[in-house]
Amino acid sequence: MPVDQGRVDPIPPWRPLLRGARQREGRAAGSGWLQLASVAHDGTPRVRTLVFRGWSPSGDLELLTDARSEKPSELMHQPQVELCWLFRKAREQFRLRGAAALITPGQDPTGLADHWQKLSPHGRSVWAWPNPGELLSEAGPWPRDVVDGEAVPPHLLLLRIHLSQVEQLDLKPHPHCRRRWQRHDHWCEQRLNP
Ligand SMILES: Cc1cc2nc3c(=O)[nH]c(=O)nc-3n(C[C@H](O)[C@H](O)[C@H](O)COP(=O)(O)O)c2cc1C
Repeated sequence: MPVDQGRVDPIPPWRPLLRGARQREGRAAGSGWLQLASVAHDGTPRVRTLVFRGWSPSGDLELLTDARSEKPSELMHQPQVELCWLFRKAREQFRLRGAAALITPGQDPTGLADHWQKLSPHGRSVWAWPNPGELLSEAGPWPRDVVDGEAVPPHLLLLRIHLSQVEQLDLKPHPHCRRRWQRHDHWCEQRLNP
């Protein structure tokens, strides 16, 4: 199932399962939080939580981050990532592997503006704070909200993860159900020992 730029692929079979697990979480805080693992410049692992922001038209998983944080330069150096998404109520884990593409407002003004407008005023505020990861600057600015209509900050960065493999582990049945789908195999389902 090759992907051309902008091409809309059929929905892969694991997507409805992921959606089902998300729906089961209901309005629980954290249902859209996933862990992004990457490799730092010195070859050691890094992992942190990000918010799932949706799917691109070509089926890539979208995340938003700050170009001033450490992960963008790490991802430019080594774009291969793994995401871990835990659904507590469904008792399911999804592990998603892929390659990260970094998209700036200059490269895709409309796409980034869409994401920026969809953020809540409170959610936007972190992009108005001082450089992440530097020693605390007491003077700020530390706004609580960034109102609608504010310009897209140049350091808003869209991460598009082009997935190559998805694995689900469902702890509900006995024995546990473990399945894998790979893009090179046209997302054909394989059952694995849990
Ligand atoms: C619940 C939660 C959600 C978060 N969502 C995001 C997010 O969507 N984007 C982001 O860049 N950082 C998010 N963060 C902060 C990251 O986990 C991380 O601390 C920050 O991006 C700096 O990471 P880095 O130094 O590895 O670049 C979130 C943290 C938490 C606890």
